[in-house]
Amino acid sequence: MKLPVSRRDFLQTTALGAAAVSVLPKPLFAAEAGGRLKVGFIGTGNQGMGLIKRVLRFDLADIVAVCDVNEGSHGYRDPGHFYGREPAKKMVEDHGKRHKGKAAHECKAYADFRDLLADPQIDAVFAIVPDHWHAPVSILAAKAGKHVYCEKPLTLTVAEGREIMAAVDEAGVVFQVGSQERSNPVSQFVCNSVKNGAIGDVTRIETVVGYNNKVGPGPGWSADPVPKEFDYKMWLGPAPQVPYHHDRCLYRFRFNYDYSGGQITNFGAHSNDMAHWGMGMDTSGPTEIQCNHAEFLPEGSLFNTATVTSYRCKYPNGVELVCKSSEEKVQTRFEGSNGWMQTGYAGTTASSPELLKGLPDKNGPDGIDPHSAHMKNFVESVQGDATVNAPLEVGHASAVLCHIANAAIRRYPEHGDEVLKWDAEAERFTNSDGANDMLARPRRAPWDDLA
Ligand SMILES: NC(=O)c1ccc[n+]([C@@H]2O[C@H](COP(=O)([O-])OP(=O)(O)OC[C@H]3O[C@@H](n4cnc5c(N)ncnc54)[C@H](O)[C@@H]3O)[C@@H](O)[C@H]2O)c1
Repeated sequence: MKLPVSRRDFLQTTALGAAAVSVLPKPLFAAEAGGRLKVGFIGTGNQGMGLIKRVLRFDLADIVAVCDVNEGSHGYRDPGHFYGREPAKKMVEDHGKRHKGKAAHECKAYADFRDLLADPQIDAVFAIVPDHWHAPVSILAAKAGKHVYCEKPLTLTVAEGREIMAAVDEAGVVFQVGSQERSNPVSQFVCNSVKNGAIGDVTRIETVVGYNNKVGPGPGWSADPVPKEFDYKMWLGPAPQVPYHHDRCLYRFRFNYDYSGGQITNFGAHSNDMAHWGMGMDTSGPTEIQCNHAEFLPEGSLFNTATVTSYRCKYPNGVELVCKSSEEKVQTRFEGSNGWMQTGYAGTTASSPELLKGLPDKNGPDGIDPHSAHMKNFVESVQGDATVNAPLEVGHASAVLCHIANAAIRRYPEHGDEVLKWDAEAERFTNSDGANDMLARPRRAPWDDLA
């Protein structure tokens, strides 16, 4: 069984759904009353600030609130960046003054996202927080009746995807996963060409993930004092209580399993998502997965996700997917019975120039970059004028692939290149209890109970 393609399609094609559709709130906000979408940003770090700038530049919505546990500091991807809720508020309000005059709207700055969610003027939220917060923030946002744009990878664990789906279904809100490749005309061209048979039957896919781009402290590291402008307790939230270190949090969270899945989920959420798309198996998964190589930093290092990996998996249609760490700028390469196509940060190439006829520009005819186009698609979906390009069920399936890859990778030092059998419908391994134990993990109170 495949997962439903989109929540609305799903609801419309099931008996349960037929009843549920009638109780879905009118999609969306009061566009007919001339209203503009009012949005809040939760997480104003490396990615959040970049997305806020794009919302302002393309005038996609009114940002009426921002939230971050960091009041404002350096320490993000580029140490020169000064980010957090106060710099974000200032950026939004300064933009308003420059472009809309003195009457420009006020942007509130919250330290606790639950206060932002309680703000009745907000129609939709952008959850641009570390991965360990994606599920709690998305679930509570949906329960508060807010439409949600949540960054990729959708979740920290396989189990969390189902939790988000249940909350979103119940609330009837629009949900977009932040997989902007789904709104990138180049990725659309390549994946749809492959899906439509341009290279014949797909036989093999290669996907790429990057190496760690930051170096954390090794074994024996000692704790730093928590900066006064930073609510570390709230940053940790559902994750285990551990001492603060400046390399643990801003941007670098992606290299620690407590908060993320390393580059396997960070890059894999894009490259594997495109693999599923090109295969036409958006909401499916492999039948087996095997780690062939994995390297880790010495035990006791702050960064504990794999630094170098290679794994392979098999799909029910016989396609083999191989994912490896590489400096190559390719994201996804499709090989088929009649040729190949590949796309990524270094451009798009194919076995024949014919395959690239009509290849569009990634910024589309309106000059809108993929991130902005993806947010625009979300806003239009909330207004009822479009459907989301990256539905929840699709982002879930892509995240699941990365999470089960990590299960195989984390078991590699002890279990070598064992073949793990995967039941995509049940979302369970059928030959390893140990691997199944990695599919969920407890959240620390009060985040264990989001009812
Ligand atoms: N789509 C893409 O291509 C893309 C690119 C980069 C990052 N991302 C995703 O964006 C997310 C954030 O990554 P980043 O690089 O911006 O990290 P970051 O650490 O720079 O920013 C995250 C921000 O969230 C804040 N935060 C943490 N817990 C919070 C909470 N409970 N409430 C409010 N704010 C909280 C942090 O203080 C920080 O400012 C990740 O899931 C990442 O995978 C996606």
